[in-house]
Amino acid sequence: MRIACPLFASLLALGAVSNPVRIREDSGSGLRLICPGLNTQDRGCIRYTRGFDVTGVVTEVDLTFPQVRTECDCIQECLNRRDTCANYVWKFSTPESVNSGHRTCTLYSDFNLPAGVTLQFDLASPNNTNINAEAIIANGNNPHAGGLVPQAFKDANLDTDPDFDAVSGPVWTLANGQVQC
Ligand SMILES: *[C@@H]1O[C@H](CO)[C@@H](O)[C@H](O)[C@H]1NC(C)=O
Repeated sequence: MRIACPLFASLLALGAVSNPVRIREDSGSGLRLICPGLNTQDRGCIRYTRGFDVTGVVTEVDLTFPQVRTECDCIQECLNRRDTCANYVWKFSTPESVNSGHRTCTLYSDFNLPAGVTLQFDLASPNNTNINAEAIIANGNNPHAGGLVPQAFKDANLDTDPDFDAVSGPVWTLANGQVQC
């Protein structure tokens, strides 16, 4: 940036004026952009949750190490399935994953429901498309009962030691073709 005013220039040199063109690194909640370089509107993701799992139950896709090695691989897998993936969770989902030391990547088309809402799916209806009914049945998720957004854990029983490095969040493909996450 070219600076014409000497007073402004000296204030800037003293650090008294913050750089007006600073690249945004943080959202309002203090979240940093993660996974820079992903082909998204923000060249990475600024919308996500650490330590909790915002995902739902529909269109479950289960991915594991070594196909998915990092949280950014996980988000990329969601980007690879824009027609069916709207959110992801990178966490220890099973005791086996805790033992292996590798978090898993699970993709969904819907999100966690709030505590007062329960949905029952008509799994036999031909109107349903790409819901992965098998996974919904296998996980006992029909009806899908709402609840507080579940915490992620890293102990073998997945109920005691919080995993603050787990991450989950949206991958929204907008009508203009841009993707926000
Ligand atoms: C599928 O949706 C249509 C409305 O779009 C409805 O009339 C029909 O009953 C539905 N089929 C089933 C099996 O629910």
